[in-house]
Amino acid sequence: MALLIAAPTRDTDELAETLNRLEPGADIRVWPDAGELSEIDFAICWKQPEGLFSRLPGLKAVTSLGAGVDGILKDPDLPRDLPVGRLAGPRLASNMAAYVTAMTTLHWRDFPGFMKDQAARRWNQWAPEHPPVVGLMGMGEMARMTASALEALDTPVHGWNRSGKGPDTVTMHSGDRGLVEMAATVDVLVCLLPLTDQTRGIIHAGLLAAMKPGACLINTGRGEHLVEADLLSALDAGRPGRAILDVFSTEPLPESHPFWQHPRILITPHCASITLTEEAARLALESWRRVQAGKPPLGQVEPDRGY
Ligand code: GLV
Repeated sequence: MALLIAAPTRDTDELAETLNRLEPGADIRVWPDAGELSEIDFAICWKQPEGLFSRLPGLKAVTSLGAGVDGILKDPDLPRDLPVGRLAGPRLASNMAAYVTAMTTLHWRDFPGFMKDQAARRWNQWAPEHPPVVGLMGMGEMARMTASALEALDTPVHGWNRSGKGPDTVTMHSGDRGLVEMAATVDVLVCLLPLTDQTRGIIHAGLLAAMKPGACLINTGRGEHLVEADLLSALDAGRPGRAILDVFSTEPLPESHPFWQHPRILITPHCASITLTEEAARLALESWRRVQAGKPPLGQVEPDRGY
Protein backbone atom coordinates (compact mmCIF):
# COMPACT_ATOMS: atom_id res chain seq x y z
CA MET A 1 0.00 0.00 0.00
CA ALA A 2 1.55 3.24 -1.14
CA LEU A 3 0.45 6.83 -1.58
CA LEU A 4 1.53 8.59 -4.76
CA ILE A 5 1.83 12.36 -5.12
CA ALA A 6 1.44 13.19 -8.81
CA ALA A 7 1.54 16.97 -9.11
CA PRO A 8 4.44 17.78 -11.44
CA THR A 9 3.73 21.52 -11.61
CA ARG A 10 3.79 21.92 -7.83
CA ASP A 11 6.58 21.84 -5.29
CA THR A 12 5.78 18.48 -3.79
CA ASP A 13 8.94 17.92 -1.70
CA GLU A 14 7.50 19.77 1.26
CA LEU A 15 4.25 17.82 1.03
CA ALA A 16 6.13 14.51 0.93
CA GLU A 17 8.25 15.57 3.91
CA THR A 18 5.17 16.59 5.87
CA LEU A 19 3.40 13.31 5.10
CA ASN A 20 6.48 11.39 6.22
CA ARG A 21 6.71 13.42 9.40
CA LEU A 22 3.02 12.94 10.24
CA GLU A 23 3.02 9.23 9.40
CA PRO A 24 6.55 7.87 9.82
CA GLY A 25 7.05 4.63 7.94
CA ALA A 26 4.24 5.26 5.45
CA ASP A 27 5.11 4.44 1.85
CA ILE A 28 4.95 7.89 0.25
CA ARG A 29 6.11 8.27 -3.34
CA VAL A 30 6.46 11.29 -5.58
CA TRP A 31 5.96 11.08 -9.34
CA PRO A 32 7.99 10.30 -11.46
CA ASP A 33 9.92 8.32 -8.82
CA ALA A 34 6.93 6.06 -8.24
CA GLY A 35 8.48 2.59 -7.90
CA GLU A 36 6.30 -0.46 -8.51
CA LEU A 37 3.07 1.12 -9.73
CA SER A 38 0.78 -1.78 -8.76
CA GLU A 39 1.49 -1.07 -5.06
CA ILE A 40 -0.11 2.37 -5.20
CA ASP A 41 -3.59 2.42 -3.72
CA PHE A 42 -4.12 6.18 -3.22
CA ALA A 43 -2.99 9.21 -5.20
CA ILE A 44 -2.90 12.95 -4.58
CA CYS A 45 -3.10 14.63 -7.99
CA TRP A 46 -2.79 18.05 -9.54
CA LYS A 47 -2.21 18.31 -13.29
CA GLN A 48 -1.23 14.65 -13.21
CA PRO A 49 0.75 13.28 -16.16
CA GLU A 50 -1.23 11.99 -19.11
CA GLY A 51 -2.07 8.31 -18.97
CA LEU A 52 -1.22 7.99 -15.28
CA PHE A 53 -4.49 6.44 -14.17
CA SER A 54 -4.31 3.61 -16.70
CA ARG A 55 -0.95 2.62 -15.18
CA LEU A 56 -2.19 2.29 -11.58
CA PRO A 57 -4.13 -1.00 -11.38
CA GLY A 58 -4.30 -1.01 -7.56
CA LEU A 59 -5.67 2.52 -7.18
CA LYS A 60 -8.66 2.63 -4.78
CA ALA A 61 -9.27 6.39 -4.78
CA VAL A 62 -7.73 9.67 -5.86
CA THR A 63 -7.84 13.08 -4.28
CA SER A 64 -7.20 16.51 -5.71
CA LEU A 65 -4.42 18.56 -4.15
CA GLY A 66 -6.88 21.40 -3.64
CA ALA A 67 -10.51 22.34 -3.78
CA GLY A 68 -11.08 21.98 -7.51
CA VAL A 69 -11.38 18.53 -9.09
CA ASP A 70 -11.84 19.67 -12.70
CA GLY A 71 -8.31 18.58 -13.66
CA ILE A 72 -9.01 15.03 -12.43
CA LEU A 73 -12.54 14.62 -13.76
CA LYS A 74 -11.56 15.69 -17.27
CA ASP A 75 -8.75 13.09 -17.43
CA PRO A 76 -9.80 10.58 -20.12
CA ASP A 77 -7.96 7.78 -18.30
CA LEU A 78 -9.82 8.23 -15.01
CA PRO A 79 -11.72 4.96 -14.35
CA ARG A 80 -15.45 5.77 -14.29
CA ASP A 81 -16.02 4.15 -10.89
CA LEU A 82 -12.89 5.43 -9.10
CA PRO A 83 -13.87 7.51 -6.04
CA VAL A 84 -12.57 11.10 -6.35
CA GLY A 85 -12.15 13.38 -3.35
CA ARG A 86 -10.79 16.81 -2.65
CA LEU A 87 -8.59 18.33 0.03
CA ALA A 88 -10.49 21.37 1.16
CA GLY A 89 -9.88 22.16 4.80
CA PRO A 90 -11.19 25.07 6.86
CA ARG A 91 -8.10 27.21 6.19
CA LEU A 92 -8.72 26.98 2.46
CA ALA A 93 -12.17 28.45 3.02
CA SER A 94 -11.01 31.12 5.47
CA ASN A 95 -8.22 32.22 3.13
CA MET A 96 -10.78 32.58 0.36
CA ALA A 97 -13.05 34.58 2.66
CA ALA A 98 -10.10 36.86 3.53
CA TYR A 99 -9.25 37.39 -0.14
CA VAL A 100 -12.80 38.18 -1.25
CA THR A 101 -13.40 40.45 1.74
CA ALA A 102 -10.14 42.29 1.09
CA MET A 103 -10.82 42.71 -2.63
CA THR A 104 -14.42 43.76 -2.04
CA THR A 105 -13.14 46.41 0.37
CA LEU A 106 -10.40 47.49 -2.02
CA HIS A 107 -13.05 48.17 -4.65
CA TRP A 108 -15.66 49.67 -2.35
CA ARG A 109 -13.29 52.08 -0.60
CA ASP A 110 -11.35 52.62 -3.85
CA PHE A 111 -7.89 51.97 -2.49
CA PRO A 112 -6.40 52.19 -6.00
CA GLY A 113 -7.69 55.79 -5.99
CA PHE A 114 -5.93 56.49 -2.68
CA MET A 115 -2.70 55.11 -4.12
CA LYS A 116 -2.99 57.55 -7.00
CA ASP A 117 -3.76 60.35 -4.51
CA GLN A 118 -0.68 59.47 -2.50
CA ALA A 119 1.51 59.48 -5.60
CA ALA A 120 0.20 63.01 -6.31
CA ARG A 121 0.49 64.08 -2.60
CA ARG A 122 -3.24 64.77 -2.68
CA TRP A 123 -5.37 64.70 0.52
CA ASN A 124 -8.74 63.44 -0.70
CA GLN A 125 -10.82 62.50 2.32
CA TRP A 126 -13.95 60.47 1.58
CA ALA A 127 -15.71 57.27 2.53
CA PRO A 128 -18.78 55.61 1.00
CA GLU A 129 -22.07 56.03 2.78
CA HIS A 130 -23.33 52.45 2.30
CA PRO A 131 -21.70 49.04 2.28
CA PRO A 132 -21.51 47.29 -1.10
CA VAL A 133 -23.99 44.56 -1.98
CA VAL A 134 -22.09 41.40 -2.87
CA GLY A 135 -23.26 38.49 -5.02
CA LEU A 136 -21.58 35.12 -4.73
CA MET A 137 -21.78 32.69 -7.65
CA GLY A 138 -21.58 29.29 -5.97
CA MET A 139 -22.58 28.43 -2.42
CA GLY A 140 -20.06 25.78 -1.36
CA GLU A 141 -17.88 25.83 1.74
CA MET A 142 -15.72 28.69 0.50
CA ALA A 143 -18.71 30.82 -0.45
CA ARG A 144 -20.42 30.16 2.87
CA MET A 145 -17.39 31.24 4.85
CA THR A 146 -17.04 34.28 2.57
CA ALA A 147 -20.71 35.15 3.15
CA SER A 148 -20.20 35.01 6.94
CA ALA A 149 -17.12 37.23 6.75
CA LEU A 150 -18.92 39.80 4.60
CA GLU A 151 -22.00 39.74 6.83
CA ALA A 152 -19.79 40.45 9.84
CA LEU A 153 -18.87 43.68 8.03
CA ASP A 154 -22.57 44.51 7.61
CA THR A 155 -22.48 43.72 3.91
CA PRO A 156 -25.67 42.37 2.32
CA VAL A 157 -24.92 39.10 0.53
CA HIS A 158 -26.74 37.46 -2.38
CA GLY A 159 -25.95 33.97 -3.61
CA TRP A 160 -26.58 31.93 -6.74
CA ASN A 161 -26.43 28.18 -7.22
CA ARG A 162 -28.27 25.37 -8.95
CA SER A 163 -30.70 24.61 -6.16
CA GLY A 164 -31.34 28.14 -4.96
CA LYS A 165 -30.69 26.85 -1.42
CA GLY A 166 -28.24 28.56 0.91
CA PRO A 167 -27.82 30.08 4.36
CA ASP A 168 -30.87 31.94 5.72
CA THR A 169 -28.94 35.20 5.85
CA VAL A 170 -28.12 35.11 2.12
CA THR A 171 -30.65 36.21 -0.53
CA MET A 172 -30.56 33.24 -2.88
CA HIS A 173 -31.11 33.07 -6.64
CA SER A 174 -31.02 30.22 -9.14
CA GLY A 175 -31.47 29.57 -12.85
CA ASP A 176 -30.22 31.63 -15.80
CA ARG A 177 -32.58 34.46 -15.10
CA GLY A 178 -31.71 34.42 -11.39
CA LEU A 179 -28.05 34.89 -12.25
CA VAL A 180 -28.75 37.90 -14.45
CA GLU A 181 -31.01 39.35 -11.74
CA MET A 182 -28.31 38.92 -9.13
CA ALA A 183 -25.66 40.44 -11.41
CA ALA A 184 -27.91 43.46 -11.93
CA THR A 185 -28.44 43.91 -8.18
CA VAL A 186 -24.95 43.72 -6.73
CA ASP A 187 -21.96 46.07 -6.56
CA VAL A 188 -19.48 43.20 -6.46
CA LEU A 189 -20.02 39.91 -8.30
CA VAL A 190 -17.77 37.08 -7.18
CA CYS A 191 -17.30 33.77 -8.99
CA LEU A 192 -16.60 30.91 -6.57
CA LEU A 193 -18.02 28.17 -8.75
CA PRO A 194 -16.48 24.81 -9.56
CA LEU A 195 -15.60 24.41 -13.23
CA THR A 196 -18.06 22.06 -14.93
CA ASP A 197 -19.57 21.80 -18.41
CA GLN A 198 -22.46 23.91 -17.09
CA THR A 199 -20.30 26.69 -15.64
CA ARG A 200 -17.62 27.01 -18.35
CA GLY A 201 -17.96 30.46 -19.96
CA ILE A 202 -20.74 31.46 -17.55
CA ILE A 203 -19.32 35.00 -17.28
CA HIS A 204 -19.90 36.21 -20.82
CA ALA A 205 -20.90 39.44 -22.55
CA GLY A 206 -24.57 39.00 -21.65
CA LEU A 207 -23.96 38.61 -17.93
CA LEU A 208 -21.37 41.41 -17.82
CA ALA A 209 -23.78 43.76 -19.61
CA ALA A 210 -26.33 43.11 -16.85
CA MET A 211 -23.93 44.37 -14.15
CA LYS A 212 -24.31 47.84 -12.64
CA PRO A 213 -22.10 50.54 -14.16
CA GLY A 214 -18.88 50.73 -12.15
CA ALA A 215 -19.49 47.39 -10.38
CA CYS A 216 -16.64 45.00 -9.75
CA LEU A 217 -16.15 41.45 -10.99
CA ILE A 218 -13.99 39.15 -8.87
CA ASN A 219 -13.06 35.77 -10.34
CA THR A 220 -11.49 33.27 -7.99
CA GLY A 221 -13.07 30.19 -9.58
CA ARG A 222 -11.32 29.10 -12.75
CA GLY A 223 -10.12 31.12 -15.73
CA GLU A 224 -12.47 29.18 -18.00
CA HIS A 225 -15.51 30.58 -16.18
CA LEU A 226 -14.83 33.89 -17.88
CA VAL A 227 -14.92 34.55 -21.62
CA GLU A 228 -11.76 36.65 -21.49
CA ALA A 229 -12.35 38.52 -24.76
CA ASP A 230 -15.81 39.59 -23.56
CA LEU A 231 -14.37 41.18 -20.43
CA LEU A 232 -12.23 43.69 -22.35
CA SER A 233 -15.18 45.11 -24.30
CA ALA A 234 -17.35 45.04 -21.18
CA LEU A 235 -14.78 47.12 -19.27
CA ASP A 236 -14.70 49.58 -22.18
CA ALA A 237 -18.46 49.90 -21.79
CA GLY A 238 -18.07 50.46 -18.02
CA ARG A 239 -19.92 47.30 -16.93
CA PRO A 240 -18.13 46.18 -14.90
CA GLY A 241 -15.99 49.14 -13.92
CA ARG A 242 -13.24 46.96 -12.51
CA ALA A 243 -12.21 43.32 -12.58
CA ILE A 244 -10.10 41.54 -10.00
CA LEU A 245 -8.87 38.26 -11.42
CA ASP A 246 -7.02 35.50 -9.63
CA VAL A 247 -7.48 32.75 -12.23
CA PHE A 248 -6.90 32.64 -15.98
CA SER A 249 -7.49 30.31 -18.92
CA THR A 250 -3.73 30.00 -19.30
CA GLU A 251 -1.60 30.03 -16.15
CA PRO A 252 0.87 31.54 -15.62
CA LEU A 253 -0.80 34.41 -17.49
CA PRO A 254 1.33 34.90 -20.64
CA GLU A 255 3.44 38.08 -20.69
CA SER A 256 1.74 39.25 -23.88
CA HIS A 257 -1.77 38.98 -22.41
CA PRO A 258 -3.73 42.29 -22.60
CA PHE A 259 -4.99 41.88 -19.00
CA TRP A 260 -1.54 42.74 -17.58
CA GLN A 261 -1.63 46.33 -18.82
CA HIS A 262 -5.30 47.08 -18.34
CA PRO A 263 -5.82 49.99 -15.93
CA ARG A 264 -9.01 48.54 -14.48
CA ILE A 265 -7.92 44.95 -14.07
CA LEU A 266 -6.14 43.85 -10.92
CA ILE A 267 -4.29 40.57 -11.27
CA THR A 268 -3.24 38.14 -8.57
CA PRO A 269 -1.41 34.90 -9.47
CA HIS A 270 -3.94 32.18 -8.49
CA CYS A 271 -3.17 32.71 -4.83
CA ALA A 272 -6.58 33.58 -3.36
CA SER A 273 -6.68 30.24 -1.63
CA ILE A 274 -3.96 27.75 -2.34
CA THR A 275 -3.44 24.42 -0.71
CA LEU A 276 -1.63 24.69 2.59
CA THR A 277 0.87 21.90 2.99
CA GLU A 278 0.21 20.94 6.61
CA GLU A 279 -3.56 21.08 6.26
CA ALA A 280 -3.49 19.15 2.97
CA ALA A 281 -1.15 16.50 4.39
CA ARG A 282 -3.36 15.86 7.42
CA LEU A 283 -6.48 15.64 5.27
CA ALA A 284 -4.75 13.39 2.72
CA LEU A 285 -3.67 10.94 5.42
CA GLU A 286 -7.15 10.88 6.89
CA SER A 287 -8.60 10.32 3.43
CA TRP A 288 -6.12 7.50 2.71
CA ARG A 289 -6.99 5.79 6.01
CA ARG A 290 -10.67 6.04 5.21
CA VAL A 291 -10.16 4.49 1.79
CA GLN A 292 -8.12 1.65 3.30
CA ALA A 293 -11.02 1.02 5.70
CA GLY A 294 -13.38 0.72 2.72
CA LYS A 295 -14.92 4.17 3.18
CA PRO A 296 -15.20 6.97 0.60
CA PRO A 297 -12.35 9.52 0.43
CA LEU A 298 -12.78 12.85 2.19
CA GLY A 299 -14.76 15.38 0.21
CA GLN A 300 -15.93 12.82 -2.33
CA VAL A 301 -17.39 14.47 -5.41
CA GLU A 302 -20.10 13.31 -7.79
CA PRO A 303 -18.36 12.93 -11.16
CA ASP A 304 -21.57 13.49 -13.17
CA ARG A 305 -22.25 16.72 -11.33
CA GLY A 306 -18.61 17.78 -11.57
CA TYR A 307 -18.12 18.84 -7.93
C1 GLV B 1 -7.26 26.00 -6.27
O1 GLV B 1 -7.64 26.66 -7.17
C2 GLV B 1 -7.89 24.78 -5.84
O2 GLV B 1 -8.74 24.24 -6.56
O3 GLV B 1 -7.55 24.35 -4.73
